[in-house]
Amino acid sequence: MSFATEHMGVKSTCFADAVTGRRSIRKLKRHASVNQAQIDKIVRIVVNAPSAYNMQSGRLVVLMDDEHEALWDLAKETYAKLIPQEKVASFMERLDGFRRGNGTVLFFEDEETIRRMQEKIPANKDAFVDWSHHGSGMLQFAMWTALCADGIAASLQHVNAIEQQVKERYHISPSWKMIAQMPFGASDEEPVEKSTLDYADVVKFY
Ligand SMILES: Cc1cc2nc3c(=O)[nH]c(=O)nc-3n(C[C@H](O)[C@H](O)[C@H](O)COP(=O)(O)O)c2cc1C
Repeated sequence: MSFATEHMGVKSTCFADAVTGRRSIRKLKRHASVNQAQIDKIVRIVVNAPSAYNMQSGRLVVLMDDEHEALWDLAKETYAKLIPQEKVASFMERLDGFRRGNGTVLFFEDEETIRRMQEKIPANKDAFVDWSHHGSGMLQFAMWTALCADGIAASLQHVNAIEQQVKERYHISPSWKMIAQMPFGASDEEPVEKSTLDYADVVKFY
């Protein structure tokens, strides 16, 4: 299986390689060939991710170049006041690792959509908030993996203290709740070692 036919002219790897090769890359640098048209192609694939009852509560905002940098400047300014003084320098360095990339995808969930689904299907009222997060997770995974398939490094972040300022800057509906951020670009680090549980402890076949 391959994304290749959908990505005319863009280097693309197969699904299995993208899923197993995807890592958290938190130190980014600019990727020379990444541009908005390429990211738009990827996002058009990613929005096919499923959602409960096909409610499609996920919303995405993509910030490129100067706006991407402005986002991480905002995060630096905000978090410098929020975190303990002794941790500020290393946290700022971490945020700079995101800022040095090309762009950031912001993941939102539309609470108005969730509310309408709760009204429409009261028997599942309590499940819709969870399902909204599941749907967002599907979008996040699809985005991360599709970026990896195109040779673009990324990580998943939760600097949600900047939600209000972001909404004001981009005139985002109050019903969109910020869930996560995915800064992307070229990798400027080797991913950290990670351990993996034994397959047999995780998966059972009968
Ligand atoms: C739901 C979820 C939330 C995460 N939140 C963060 C985060 O806020 N910051 C971060 O640097 N990594 C975050 N991660 C990345 C995980 O730490 C990482 O995926 C995990 O350690 C496995 O490493 P890998 O991504 O390199 O395979 C998150 C991952 C998931 C799935």
